[in-house]
Order: sequence, then C-alpha cells, then structure tokens
Amino acid sequence: MADLKLNDVKDLTRIERIGAHSHIRGLGLDDALDARKVSQGMVGQTKARKAAGVILQMIREGKIAGRGVLLAGQPGTGKTAIAMGMAKALGEETPFAMMAGSEIFSLEMSKTEALTQAFRKAIGVRIKEETEVIEGEVVEIQIDRPATAGAAAKTGKLTLKTTDMETIYDLGTKMIESLNKEKVQSGDVIAIDKATGKITKLGRSFARSRDYDAMGPTTKFVQCPDGELQKRKEVVHVVSLHEIDVINSRTQGFLALFAGDTGEIRSEVREQIDSKVAEWREEGKAEIVPGVLFIDEVHMLDIECFSFLNRALENEMSPILVVATNRGITRIRGTNYKSPHGIPIDLLDRLLIISTEPYSEAEIRAILDIRCEEEDVEMSDDARELLTKIGHETSLRYAIHLITAASLACQKRKGTEVEIEDISRVYTLFLDVKRSTQFLIEYQEQFMFNEVPKTDEDVEMAG
Ligand SMILES: Nc1ncnc2c1ncn2[C@@H]1O[C@H](COP(=O)(O)OP(=O)(O)OP(=O)(O)O)[C@@H](O)[C@H]1O
Ligand SMILES: [Mg+2]
Repeated sequence: MADLKLNDVKDLTRIERIGAHSHIRGLGLDDALDARKVSQGMVGQTKARKAAGVILQMIREGKIAGRGVLLAGQPGTGKTAIAMGMAKALGEETPFAMMAGSEIFSLEMSKTEALTQAFRKAIGVRIKEETEVIEGEVVEIQIDRPATAGAAAKTGKLTLKTTDMETIYDLGTKMIESLNKEKVQSGDVIAIDKATGKITKLGRSFARSRDYDAMGPTTKFVQCPDGELQKRKEVVHVVSLHEIDVINSRTQGFLALFAGDTGEIRSEVREQIDSKVAEWREEGKAEIVPGVLFIDEVHMLDIECFSFLNRALENEMSPILVVATNRGITRIRGTNYKSPHGIPIDLLDRLLIISTEPYSEAEIRAILDIRCEEEDVEMSDDARELLTKIGHETSLRYAIHLITAASLACQKRKGTEVEIEDISRVYTLFLDVKRSTQFLIEYQEQFMFNEVPKTDEDVEMAG
C-alpha cells in the first residue's frame, strides 16, 4: 500500500439521526464553564453539564487520552441528552461516534470487531495535503445553448483572471453543472480543485461591490487574487481511522461506507494503516485528533466487551470513552457477579462518574416549553401547567410524548392551541408506566406467561 486512498472521503456529509434530542444544541455553558440555567436547549442538571464541559475542555486541550466518563442516573434524567450536547459542543472537526450497548449483539461481526470499529470511528487523523487549485475572478461564463430546446448545455467557456493574467478555459457538462449548482456568476472569486473539479466560491470581487443588485446581505467581498491562476495550496482535513480502514479494505470501499455494510476489516489492513499514519505523523503530514466514543446503555455489554474496553483505554491512540447507564447494582452480563451499574469494578475504577438527578417541576416545565417550540406546537398556559404535573408524577419522557399526541387531538377538533381537554384526552388514551403496571396487576390472570418468577436483576435505579 504505497498510498492510502483518501480523496473519496472528503465530501461525505454525516447523517444525523436525531429526534428526541433535536432541541439540544450544546451544553449551554458560559466561558467559565458554568452551566447557564436554560441555554442551547439545555435546562437544569447544572452539575453534570459543568462536569461534561470540563471533560470537553480537557479534550480540546489534548490533555487526556484514554480516559473514560460514566454518566449514571435514573431514566429520563438527561444522560443521553448531555452526551448529545457534548457532541454538538465539540464542533465539526473532532470525531464523535456513538452506539448503543445492545448494537454489539445485532451486528454481523464479532463483538470485538464492532468495538474496534467504534473506537476507530472516534479517532480522527488531521491530514495536510498539497493540492493544485485554479483561483481567480470570473470574468465571463459563456455556455453554448444547444439548438434543441430543453436539452442540457454541453460545452462552454469560462474566463478567469487574476490581477496579473487572464485565461479562457473550456467547460464540459460536469463543470457547467457544478458552476450552476454553486450559482457562480461573473464577479465571483472562485477556486477549482484540479484533482476533483470541486468548485468553491470564495466571495465577490471588491471591484464589483457597486453592483448592488447582485448581492444579498451575506455577500462577502474579497480581493481579486494576484499572481498565477494555478497555485499549490495546502489543505487540511480530518478523516476518521475507520473511514481510512473501509476505503482501503475493499475495492468498492466508498460505497460500503454509504451502505454501512463494511463487514470485518482484516487486521493486516489496520496494521498497515496504523504504520502509514505513524509515518505521516513523523513527517509532520498528519496529526491524531482523539475524539469521543459514546456508548449508551452500557450495561448491555458483556464481560468480554468490558475487558476489551479496559485494554483499549490504555492504547495511546484511544479516544475519550463516554458511557451511560440507568442501572443500579445488577448482574454483569456474561457472569454471575453483581456490580454497581453492571460494570466490572476494574473498568469502573478507570471511569470518572458524573451523576444526573431527577428534575424539579420548574425544570420539567422549562424542558416541555422547549419541546413545544421544537415541535411547533401552540399550547395554552393551563395545558402546559397540567402537562408539567403529569411529567412530575409520571415521567418526563411520557410528558414529552404527550405533546405530539395532544397536538394531533387539537388538530382533529380544529383547534388552534392545545388546551387542557386535549391533554386529558390523550392522557386517558395512552397509559404511562404506572397505570399500565396497575392494569397488569389487576388483570394478570388474563395474560400469557404471567407466572414470571420475581428476580431482583436488572432493576433500574429507583425513581
Ligand atoms: N437537561 C435537559 N434539558 C433539555 N432537555 C432534556 C434535559 N434532560 C433531558 N431532556 C430531554 O428529555 C428526554 C429524556 O432524556 P434522556 O433521553 O437524555 O434521558 P436518559 O437519562 O438518557 O434516560 P435513559 O436512562 O432512560 O436512557 C429527551 O428527549 C431529552 O432530550
Ligand atoms: Mg438514554
């Protein structure tokens, strides 16, 4: 492997799968890392948020590698939300990988392979590359219209200039398309990557700052470049070790990344990549960017996975491991031993523990207000009051779910605002856990398998 393939990964946009936490835009901390009461979609839970912020700070300063953090607390106290907030606060450059503990058992690969992939998704490599670009101000774009109407333009000419020279380039269909897509017009200063043909608009030339009609409020003005049109430029981009693994492990690697069907990656491939990356680091061409690996519901992992984590944390290239659980003292999967959070003591010892606490009524109200806004639901004050009470007595999640349901009920009666009646309607339609359990106890003879023996295993932390 003389050269690793990297080009293909650059333009991958990451797909975010969110919903329950889409209102979370960060940790909501101020510059001193103190938690603001309500900020960036976050409410309360100030101690845990501050602690998460301190961890982020350490990551940014590159101080810690191979550390672990455990978010522990009762269901619905914002553990997953805080992890999402950390991801948002980290920014684009730092890799953040997440998985649920139970995923390990549903993948068509060994558990350790799945964990290795997860770890490598959370380690970025910042690579410096020299590329050739053409950079200049657009003088004219001339596209030859084909005789038949409706057919796409096939050829054209692009005139670019710097303060020192001017050149005319021939255009093919693909370039015409990307020029259209980027809405390039004369007076724009653009850069074209010679290798990929990618066009980037750098701004509008100062010389055109008087053409008011051609600009919006966000128009950025730049100088017309000087010197040669063709330049060598240093570009920096971050890819994860996993992305490099996938692209180099198969011929159709690029497609495999999209399909998510990566299969097992041979250890020789990884070794080669690791030594290549080490070489680049020595030559100053690449740096390691340790990111964050978040494993939710970590109690679902078994003893083999836990011992893998122990060892992986000690690796020099390890990311920061953040795990979350709502379990109390319970059996460690794959053993007959019990342990706090279902996590072996030796791993627990390597984790900093952040605990989350149940919310007050006022905090529940604030979270519900944010969710109403997020879901675009108008709700009267009385209804919000009632929903808050319900949330306090049942669970925050149940109350959040009722927002959507109540808004549908409101639409059905052609109302403009969710009222108390909509809330009570859906409250009777959908049971919360307490009422459902009550129902089960009352009618247990009529259900199948009702003689489940009582165990004290897998008890969630008492609410
Ligand atoms: N402090 C908070 N600010 C804003 N929204 C929150 C906050 N805490 C929780 N939420 C929201 O409440 C819902 C439940 O929280 P979350 O899923 O994070 O709980 P959890 O602690 O992960 O629970 P579980 O143990 O059941 O996984 C989510 O929609 C979440 O976004
Ligand atoms: Mg959770």
